[in-house]
Amino acid sequence: MNPTQETRDKIAVALLAWFQRHKRDLPWRGATPYGVWVSEIMLQQTQVVTVIPFYLRFMERFPTVTALAEASIEEVLTYWAGLGYYARARNLHRAAQRVAEEFGGVVPSDPVDIESLPGIGRYTAGAILSIAYSVPRPIVDANVIRVLSRVFGITGDPKSSVNQDTLWGLAEQLVPKVNPGDFNQGLMELGALVCEPVEPRCDTCPLLTFCVAGHSPDPTALPEIPPRKTAVSVTHVSVLIRNEKGELLLTQRPLHGLWGGLWEFPRVILRVGETPQEAGLRAGREVAGYEISLSKQIAKIKHSVTHHRITLYGFLASPLDISPLEHPHRVLWILPSELDRYALSAPQVLLRNAIQMLLVEEKQGTVQPILDFMPQD
Ligand code: ADE
Repeated sequence: MNPTQETRDKIAVALLAWFQRHKRDLPWRGATPYGVWVSEIMLQQTQVVTVIPFYLRFMERFPTVTALAEASIEEVLTYWAGLGYYARARNLHRAAQRVAEEFGGVVPSDPVDIESLPGIGRYTAGAILSIAYSVPRPIVDANVIRVLSRVFGITGDPKSSVNQDTLWGLAEQLVPKVNPGDFNQGLMELGALVCEPVEPRCDTCPLLTFCVAGHSPDPTALPEIPPRKTAVSVTHVSVLIRNEKGELLLTQRPLHGLWGGLWEFPRVILRVGETPQEAGLRAGREVAGYEISLSKQIAKIKHSVTHHRITLYGFLASPLDISPLEHPHRVLWILPSELDRYALSAPQVLLRNAIQMLLVEEKQGTVQPILDFMPQD
């Protein structure tokens, strides 16, 4: 697909003018290259409104590449906790350390150097280079896919390699030498504010004149997104083990994989034929290294990650023995007042909230201290 130079120029002029008037005032507009980088990583898989408070807190604590490079991964994860997809934080941290060591703390403006950093692929490199350094590099994210598929009438799965080549090729041809960053942000902003998935506002669109879908009976017919993978339901069980000193036991997840490096209340995935209570006892034994008894269920949480629908049970529990079994994971006993210092995944944060509520209620005497052991059959 090859729009003429004249069409490309007209699209750029129309989009840049629209962006100047309609862009949202977001905290990363006009940020340093490092700030642009942090924002682009946070914005992957995550909506703008969710990102804003996380971005502000993160930038206050880690205002420069060096500040981030010098921090511990533990602390970085604390600031990321709740945003999800924690591999992003680990990559960002490792990449900051490389920028500090190899590039004197300056985010590289060379496409090859920047793409050599962990967590920076073609999209993020294009975003940082164009927005922070005015290098005319293309970007293609979900919003850009929608805008370009509609304007140029691209049919078929936009994720197919043929269509990916077409989309990146178009984005590359369209990005102007002057103001490439505003042009790219304009494409994303147009996708977010006008060229919406279900109800596009074609009557207000600066690109309507050029748009194939906009002149069709149903502009939302493009892009042709294939049906989603069906969701898989899984049940997880965590135990909030409390010792006689009132301390709670946390375990740390291995560094790789889902929720890698985060802390959690010992958790297992429910097996076929197992009750949540049995799984709770198993979590005590296999993850925490303690034989435990369960008292009561304090939470049942629903949470979705990628195509998994997770139901998470939380049981309050006590250790039955003093010396732990061999524990397969790193474990810590901590006071409830220290819980906020540990990076937990989003569903585990809800468990933490539930135990904190319960402790307040216990203090106020509005619940009986937990002695009501339930049958464990
Ligand atoms: N999504 C990804 N990058 C963005 C940006 N810079 N502004 C708004 N939304 C975005």
